[in-house]
Amino acid sequence: HTPQLIDQFGRRVDYIRLSITDRCDFRCVYCMSEEMSFLPREEVLSLEECGRLVKTFVSLGVSKVRITGGEPLVRKNALSLFEDIGHLPGLRELTMTTNGSQLEHYAHALKKAGLHRINISVDSLDAERFRKITRVGDLNKVLRGIQAAKDAGFTNIKLNTVLMRGFNDDEAIPLLQFAIEQALDVAFIEEMPLGEVDHSRGSTYVSNQATLKLLQEHFPLVSSTETTGGPARYWRVAHTNTRVGFISPHSHNFCEACNRVRITCKGELFLCLGQESKIDLMPLLREHPHDDQPLRDAILASMHIKPKGHDFDLQRTAPAVIRFMSQTGG
Ligand code: GTP
Ligand code: 5AD
Ligand code: SF4
Repeated sequence: HTPQLIDQFGRRVDYIRLSITDRCDFRCVYCMSEEMSFLPREEVLSLEECGRLVKTFVSLGVSKVRITGGEPLVRKNALSLFEDIGHLPGLRELTMTTNGSQLEHYAHALKKAGLHRINISVDSLDAERFRKITRVGDLNKVLRGIQAAKDAGFTNIKLNTVLMRGFNDDEAIPLLQFAIEQALDVAFIEEMPLGEVDHSRGSTYVSNQATLKLLQEHFPLVSSTETTGGPARYWRVAHTNTRVGFISPHSHNFCEACNRVRITCKGELFLCLGQESKIDLMPLLREHPHDDQPLRDAILASMHIKPKGHDFDLQRTAPAVIRFMSQTGG
């Protein structure tokens, strides 16, 4: 399948991020508000519709799919989607981003279904702090989930850490140490202003430039041109199997190389994480149950409205984007 999705800036889109639920069993302070309400069942795509979307995008040259949420594994029967698409010809990489809470139950079956790679959010290695950041999460369950993923044969597991001043900004070193011991990768992420949360994003901001400098003082980091096809810039920790990534929407914009779009569990195709431009795919799925052409035409046409990039501004008090991260899956 040759890439057919090319935007007005000449960027090729070969990667979709599909959120299969807006629900989550955690309530991370940077991602959700405490009293978040979730979508009623009938407004959400069925897993069969999700599968149909993936197949349509793959027919348009998409070769990488990341399943996200909310927390993807709290969706009932989520496994059936992985089984449906896991061995699709043309799909080079099937990946998932998860909070890890359910991995101890599903890691083995996910591996069997054809999932290639897992990114797991871990913002602290201190159980009490972990609870504070996730509001309800249990660190030990997540650690058991990481172990289960390793036992199931997943390699290239990546931890995701959103560093926030006053919450976990002193944990970059212990987290990288942990990643090295466990032979995992880790990515440090600058917090993005999506949805109105309890703190102002300007006050918790930690620059990845400062984090890199700190880590360089403690670890032998070698810069790398490797990419996983996402926004992270990687450094390799010499003499280990660990890479440390930096996702730096504020200190190092990466939109010029954007290769992805995302779909919410309502079937909205968002052309940029940091903008409101979107088209609705659900009506096309439902009005044309046996004809993919209208869907394909709409997806092709959407490329003309893919924005140049985000314009996140931490000086502003209102968030750049009203929807929460949990609704687009990052
Ligand atoms: P791989 O490179 O495939 O491992 O994926 P990833 O690191 O891009 O995906 P993951 O779901 O682990 O996301 C990590 C962080 O990157 C999250 O905070 C995402 O919101 C962010 N991210 C991923 N793609 C984009 C993007 O296009 N724009 C912005 N601003 N952030 C992104
Ligand atoms: N800014 C940056 N990253 C975020 N994530 C969730 N909300 C935000 C935010 N506001 C991260 C999660 C998860 C990934 C999908 O996005 O920690 O690892
Ligand atoms: Fe849930 Fe992930 Fe959002 Fe945390 S970041 S609340 S784990 S969707």
